[in-house]
Formats: sequence, structure tokens, C-alpha cells
Amino acid sequence: MCGIIGYVGNGEAAEFLMQGLTCLEYRGYDSAGIAVFDGRDLRIEKAVGRLDCLKEKLQGNTPAGHIGIGHTRWATHGAPSDLNAHPHADCTNSFAVVHNGIIENYLSIKEELLAKGHHFKSETDTEVLVHLLEDVYKGNFEVAVREVLRRVEGSYAMVFISKKDPDTLICSKQDNPMVIGLGEGENFIASDIPAIITKTRRTYIINDGEMAVVKKDSVWVFNKSGEPVTKKVLEVNWDAEAAEKGGYEHFMLKEIHEQPKAVRDTLTGHIASDNSSVILNELGWTAEYVNSFAKVYIVACGTAYHAALVGKYYIERLARISVEVDIASEFRYRQPIINDNTLIIVVSQSGETIDTMAALKEAKRLGGKTLAVTNVVGSSIAREADQVIYTCAGPEIAVASTKAYTTQLIVMALLGAYMAGLRKTVAPEMMQSLLGNLKKIPEGIETALQQEKEIKEFAKKYSTKEDLFYIGRALDYYVALEGSLKLKEISYIHAEAYAAGELKHGTLALITNEVPVVALATQKSVYEKTLSNIKEVKAREAVVIGIGLQGDKELQHYADHVIFIPETEELLAPLLAVVPLQLLAYYSAVARNCDVDKPRNLAKSVTVE
Ligand code: F6R
Repeated sequence: MCGIIGYVGNGEAAEFLMQGLTCLEYRGYDSAGIAVFDGRDLRIEKAVGRLDCLKEKLQGNTPAGHIGIGHTRWATHGAPSDLNAHPHADCTNSFAVVHNGIIENYLSIKEELLAKGHHFKSETDTEVLVHLLEDVYKGNFEVAVREVLRRVEGSYAMVFISKKDPDTLICSKQDNPMVIGLGEGENFIASDIPAIITKTRRTYIINDGEMAVVKKDSVWVFNKSGEPVTKKVLEVNWDAEAAEKGGYEHFMLKEIHEQPKAVRDTLTGHIASDNSSVILNELGWTAEYVNSFAKVYIVACGTAYHAALVGKYYIERLARISVEVDIASEFRYRQPIINDNTLIIVVSQSGETIDTMAALKEAKRLGGKTLAVTNVVGSSIAREADQVIYTCAGPEIAVASTKAYTTQLIVMALLGAYMAGLRKTVAPEMMQSLLGNLKKIPEGIETALQQEKEIKEFAKKYSTKEDLFYIGRALDYYVALEGSLKLKEISYIHAEAYAAGELKHGTLALITNEVPVVALATQKSVYEKTLSNIKEVKAREAVVIGIGLQGDKELQHYADHVIFIPETEELLAPLLAVVPLQLLAYYSAVARNCDVDKPRNLAKSVTVE
């Protein structure tokens, strides 16, 4: 879970590497480093801590040169330290490497190399790569890297630089993302697109097992057997600006405000103009095909898992097919019952989460039909699944996911309605009303965002508390789960989400006047019951912040504060109700002086199990 970067061209390598690392810092931020060939030697500079620590170290002392590699780390093997930071060099400082992933057989290789007299400086698995390269190098960089790749097992995205071949970078990947940016007289390597889009929109997405030899005027890609591969250029259509903060204090706040657009973009072209049906040409399913599904699984992690829970509700309610939702890291260990009548949907913003990927591979191995819902075109999960529906959220940089979640809900609603349309399980007028209301969601989110000021005030007031509860019934419960995760991960306030009716079976004992309760009451079918649960917590002196539909006087009567969302269908309320919860989490974290975009211990893309 690290960010890697490479540059070769006529420009100053260090300048691009530092700029690229800034965009990749969300992938890991406990140490960083660069290696640049300065015409004589490989100059390696690294520093523990945020990228700023490296920037400070380089002030007035930046290595000059036109080829280099860089890394921002999130520790897996070896604690964060200067020594464990990448790049790592061999004994003679002739080669250096940056690596994202885990080399599983590093111990046996290390023992072999130690016996041959190699000196290791770090505790990382990565360092074996570069000593092994030194060991097998017989004058041909490419041949030597190929030999290293033949020997190592595990997951990786790595870039090598060699002082003996100072015009060439060599990179390869397995189960970790890697993109090559194609410039004029310069080329770029990065873990992902935001790091290179200020330079070029023309990219090669590197596949598992491929190795690329990158010079300033050429990029050659080879498969595992060493045969050249003809790559298709993928034109990236993201705005360069979209990867910047655009005037907001944090990426998270910017991304919360981008939701109307992200949702609109995700809906575009998917609903017939008369709202009678969903169009998902990327699937092209028939009624017969959908009717063949005896069971659907939706598998994901974290926020995407919360979106999956809402997805279950949509598919079951609309298409009347039984759905099970699984946490990806649990899925493959419980021997799920899968055959060719099973549809497995994996949901992943990044498309790189290793547990979700492993679940997807297991589902395929067992013969299931697979569908990915992801935000990143060309990501590993997108390529592995039989079919893909993309969310169009644009790059999500903040570690805490916001616009990815709402766009995932949109895809889930589209999918539920699409399957229902094929199975004819929803009456035409109901379908029309649902799809018409779905189209109005972007404006609904805009309205929900207008209460930002009040929410900021509540957040300030309650940010001193150490425990909070989120309660709700039906879909509100799933939104409560997402709201509490947001608060925990960025403000470090302990928050728990409970199905409102379940509180009295034990947890009510924790409710006191010191524990505020955020109560969601947007689900009309269980509204009265939810109100009773609110009365239960009020009777224990909890302060209640209610989230309800515009004009709900009763909720206003019982709750201490109310945040309204615009009136919408029960099924679509999660898309609006989550917005105040995102803002509440954001402003609580700001009030507590937390590092909102880079919460402690967390990284954006989880590519280790
Ligand atoms: C929380 C959050 C994480 C991710 C999870 C899955 O705000 O962002 O819980 O949702 O790590 O990531 P993806 O969707 O990239 O598979």
C-alpha cells in the first residue's frame, strides 16, 4: 500500500518525482524517498514522516538529473524509518528499486544472498529485489530484471533504476496497480493516474506479469515469457483539476461537494428519457439470463460494503432475487456456495483492494458469474471481472470515501431496477416513479448540502464527546453504519451504529446524557417504530440529533436537533441521508484538529491482506 513513481526525459527528474509523490501520498505516508542518477552516481534521499519531511531535507540540496524513481510508504515489513524507506540500493549503489506490495519468499532469497556476502541495511522485504538484481546482473539490465522477476513470489509493483544503464527504467507489476504515462521526449511511471495527468493523458495500463522497459523516447512492454506486447493507449478523460483540491481546505470536503456531479455523471445515459427503464448496455442481459440467477452475492470492504448492504435491499425489493452480502476478507474462508447460477457482484472504489480481488478470483474459480462495480477504469478488479459497471465519481483522493459511496448506491439502484425490468417484478408506474426520483437525486444532494453551516455548529458542540451512537431501521440502519464509520475513521471518536430496534437487547445500557445519538428516521414504513426507539434513548437522557424528511414535525418534537433532507422515496433516502452524516464527521474531525484527508493508521488503497 505504497505509491511509486518514475521519470525519464529531459526535465529535472526530482521535480516531477516530488510532484507525483504529492498526488500519491494518500497511498501511504509514513516515509518517502527518491533516487536520481546525477550523471555519476545514484543519489538516494529519504526521510521518515510525511512527504514534507523529505521536501525539507531536499531544500537547497535536490539531486539534479533526468532519470529517477520515488516512493511514498505505508509500512508492512519493517517499521517506518529512514532505513526502511524506499528506494533501496544494492551493496555497490549501482541499482535502486521502489516497490509496492509484499515479496512472500523474501526470507529464503535473503538467506541465500546473505550467504553470498550481501549486506542488507533495512528490515524490508523489498531490499532483496535489488541485491538479487546485483547478484544476477551480467551486463544486461533487462535480462537481469527478468531473472529477478522469475525468482520472486508475491504481489508487487516495482521500478528499477541502474547507474550502469542510465537511460532506462524497468518496471513490472503483479496484483498492484501501475500505469505508464506517455510524453514527448519523456515518459512517466506511477501507481495511478492522478500522479501523471498534469503531464499527459496518454497512458498504458500495465497488466499482471508484464514488464516495461522505459526510456525517454520509447516504452517497450513484454509479457512473462519475454515476448513484446502491443499495448493500447488509454486516453484519460479526468480533469487535471479534478485531482487537485480546488479551493477546499481538504479533499474530503471537496469530494462531499462533488457528489451532485458525480451522481449525475454516473446516471448519465442509464435511464430512458420516459423513465420507463434502465439502460445498461455494458451488461446486455436478457430476462432468461437474469432469471437464471438463483442467488446473488455482493462482496466488498468498508464503505463499499455499506453500499453493498443497500444494494442487497434494492435487488431483493425490486428484482425479488435473494442476495447475501459478505465482507470480502471473510468471503473466501467460509466456502461460499457458488455455481454457474450465482452472480457475484464486487464493489470497490479503487478496484485494487486485495481482499475484494481475492473474493472475486475465488468466485470465478467456483464457476460464478462476476460483475465489478468500480470507479477506476483499467483497475485490476475491473479487468478480472466478467463484466464491469463504472461509477463516474472521478478520482477520490481523501482516505475517507464519500462520493464513491453515493455513486455506488446509484449503480446499485440502477442494477436493481434493471434486473427488475427484465424480470417484470415492478409495476410500470412504480418503475417510472422510482427512476424519475433517481434522476432528481443530484438536486436533492445539493439541497442537503445547504445545511452545512448548522451541521458545522453541531459538530463543534459534540466533538468533545468520546462516544456516539447512530441508530436507524431498514435502510436507515445501513446509512447509520456508514455514518459511524466516517466519524470513527477521521475524528477518532468512538461511534457505533445499531439497528434501532436492537438497542434494547443490551446496548441501551450504554446510553447516558454523555452519549449523543444520531437517529435516522427517513423510512416511512418503520417510522413510528423508529420514533419509539428515539423516545427510548431520550428517556436515558441522550441528546438526539435526528435526520428526517423535510417538514417532519414529529421528529422535531422528540429530537433535540433535526437535520432535514428533501422528501424522496424511501428506497432512495440513503443517497440523501448520508450527506449530513459525512459533513458531521468532517466538521467533527476539523474541530478536533485531526488530519482529515490522511487519518492515522489508514491508507486509501488497501493492497495487503
Ligand atoms: C472508508 C473507506 C474504506 C474503503 C475500503 C474499500 O471511508 O474508504 O472503508 O471503502 O477500504 O476500498 P475500495 O472501495 O477501494 O475497495
